[in-house]
Amino acid sequence: MKRVVVLGSTGSIGVQTLDVIKKSGRFRVVGLSAGRNIDLLEKQILEFQPLAVSVFDEEQAEKLRRRVGNRVKVFSGDEGNIEIVEIDADIVVAAIVGSRGVYPVLRALELGRRVALANKESLVVAGHIVKEFLRRYGGELIPVDSEHSAIFQALQAGNRKDVRKIILTASGGPFRTRSDLDNVTVEEALKHPTWSMGKKITIDSATLFNKGLEIIEAHYLFDVEPENIEVVIHPQSIVHSMVEFKDGSIMAQLGPPDMRIPISYALFYPERWMNTYSNFSLLDRKLEFYPPDFEKFPALKLAYRVLREGEKSCFIYSQANEVAVRAFLEGRIKFTHIPRIVEKVLEMKDTFPEVTYDAIMKMEEMIKRAAEKVVADFEVKL
Ligand SMILES: NC(=O)c1ccc[n+]([C@@H]2O[C@H](COP(=O)([O-])OP(=O)(O)OC[C@H]3O[C@@H](n4cnc5c(N)ncnc54)[C@H](OP(=O)(O)O)[C@@H]3O)[C@@H](O)[C@H]2O)c1
Repeated sequence: MKRVVVLGSTGSIGVQTLDVIKKSGRFRVVGLSAGRNIDLLEKQILEFQPLAVSVFDEEQAEKLRRRVGNRVKVFSGDEGNIEIVEIDADIVVAAIVGSRGVYPVLRALELGRRVALANKESLVVAGHIVKEFLRRYGGELIPVDSEHSAIFQALQAGNRKDVRKIILTASGGPFRTRSDLDNVTVEEALKHPTWSMGKKITIDSATLFNKGLEIIEAHYLFDVEPENIEVVIHPQSIVHSMVEFKDGSIMAQLGPPDMRIPISYALFYPERWMNTYSNFSLLDRKLEFYPPDFEKFPALKLAYRVLREGEKSCFIYSQANEVAVRAFLEGRIKFTHIPRIVEKVLEMKDTFPEVTYDAIMKMEEMIKRAAEKVVADFEVKL
């Protein structure tokens, strides 16, 4: 039985990963980590009997220790995530949300593990370092993001040198056809038309920052230049992405919008799991494709810009967005302020250091502090 560690086990991807693990009966869970949801983590401990767990929040970790006693070792903080990654395992599912997920991913690669990567932020903030670790230590990175899983699968139809472009599909989010985005409420932004996901990624899907992060993720995962990455709006979320080869053939991966499919693909690769829930027919289904509106969704334009500017700008794009999304969820800024805040922080690029392994946390802190100041400027204008 393959041994699996699930980082971010209490989140949307984490829970669906454990569902695949439970239904397939083919894996042994050896480690789990969460941010602060100890109620769910405790249930997962009882069900999956991991060797150790970690809770990022120190107070919550202490509460959990009191609840579980000696039954399982409970770590905490950033070191806790690393301790969990260091448990002997075959696969590490990286499903922590945000840039804090980067060090566990790097450590897993250093240990030569297969990383089933949901945490796209780690490629956005440190794509060049992740690639360096892959080269140096030879771990394996299998994407979990449905678009990148689709591209990963479609690429197997030909040679990399024959790829003309990658076509990332986007549902367009809840505001694809709405013109006035200034008065969007948090509740409206949290209603995704096709996918059910965590809060941060749902807001990112509404602003199209998620697609922007995916453009950067695709660049690092598949070595494709920004001009060869195209985004098309596909409201049905059935074609998960495509690869166009130089002879004009377009290879696509299709399926229902169910994250358990790309999750199981990453766990089972190169095998496929015969699951019981993906009865899906294309009969009578519309498949539509539209060009994205770069003016209405500035996040997309910004993504191409930061990718051309380099690692530091990609880092800022991700971090400033995290701060702005949190401020929006807290009702402090408007929906349309999110890309404007990111743009303002990008203007301060020269005041931040270069992205190196040792500087990641410091940079994160500096950018987040700068972004908070920009948020405060927008806040008073509400
Ligand atoms: N959801 C999707 O369909 C989907 C699709 C593609 C890619 N992704 C990517 O997958 C990642 C996870 O997304 P999600 O939607 O599952 O997010 P989510 O539902 O918000 O869950 C995030 C998980 O990360 C945990 N966490 C947060 N900070 C942590 C820390 N410092 N240390 C350890 N655990 C921490 C949370 O724990 P607590 O809940 O206990 O605080 C939770 O388990 C993101 O990078 C997202 O972009 C998600």
